[in-house]
Amino acid sequence: MKIVRSKNRMRVIAERWRRAGLRVGFVPTMGALHSGHLALVKASQAECERTVVSIFVNPIQFGPREDFSRYPRPLARDRRLLVAQGVHALFVPSAAAMYAAGFSTKVWVGGELVARFCGPFRPGHFAGVTTVVAKLFNIVRPDAAFFGAKDAQQAAVVARMTADLDFGVAMRIIPTVRENDGLAMSSRNRYLSPAQRSSASCLYRALKEGRTAVMLGERRAGAVTAVVRRVLSAEPSLRLQYAELADARTFEPVTRLKGMIILAAAARIGKTRLIDNVVMRVPGRKGIQGK
Ligand code: PAJ
Repeated sequence: MKIVRSKNRMRVIAERWRRAGLRVGFVPTMGALHSGHLALVKASQAECERTVVSIFVNPIQFGPREDFSRYPRPLARDRRLLVAQGVHALFVPSAAAMYAAGFSTKVWVGGELVARFCGPFRPGHFAGVTTVVAKLFNIVRPDAAFFGAKDAQQAAVVARMTADLDFGVAMRIIPTVRENDGLAMSSRNRYLSPAQRSSASCLYRALKEGRTAVMLGERRAGAVTAVVRRVLSAEPSLRLQYAELADARTFEPVTRLKGMIILAAAARIGKTRLIDNVVMRVPGRKGIQGK
């Protein structure tokens, strides 16, 4: 595996592959890799002849009171995992290379997509993500890029940017990988104490109960989010930030549920913020009558 620190070298390597007719898949990450990240890598390897993974803890997507400085950076372990997985190149740019003195450009997506869910709780976060992903896309110029459904809003925002700015990168969204008790894998789970860790799976349980309510015929968004709140109230250590439903594609608010919808939630446990979501197709009238 090539370990690439320079932007220029990364550009040259990826371009050489593309010219040789090899499809380049790209998996952007912030490291502290787990099986969720590796699922994206495997999806890239299944589709593309070459896979580039980036590890860059992007300072501009963290708020001033967020965990940038303590974000885990186990680079040697990450590198071993990627070698074992057969990745062709690991791109690890420095912050100084990504944000040189005088850097003053932001790429941000407007509209409902960013205004809801995590948006209000993390001002500036998505602009930080879209700015770094735009830069990474320009450096690697991949054929396809792989993102996780766990961060559904992030994937939708990046997909919007990619389409709006004609990057010509195919977006692939890979299902959430979970621990045995259902907790979505996340680099931030390592912040959890054993007690917090065992409470944390309640978030997914609550979302699943919300989904069950829809499958049993509930069509009022407010009633579904009430189910989520009720389940979570059994775990007072989890403090809900939001539980919301939206059209799974546009993220527009829905009050009467139909079509493909996403039920997403964020909660804090101690200092750690957890997010998760479930996507479902609301059964049509026929489905209900036919039961
Ligand atoms: P990071 O949190 O490291 O996640 C990198 C990618 O892995 C994201 O696309 C994320 O959705 C995906 N991922 C994380 N946990 C997952 C899980 N349990 N199952 C499936 N996929 C999972 O997201 C970021 O980094 C950054 O914002 C980034 C896009 C790299 C921009 O800085």
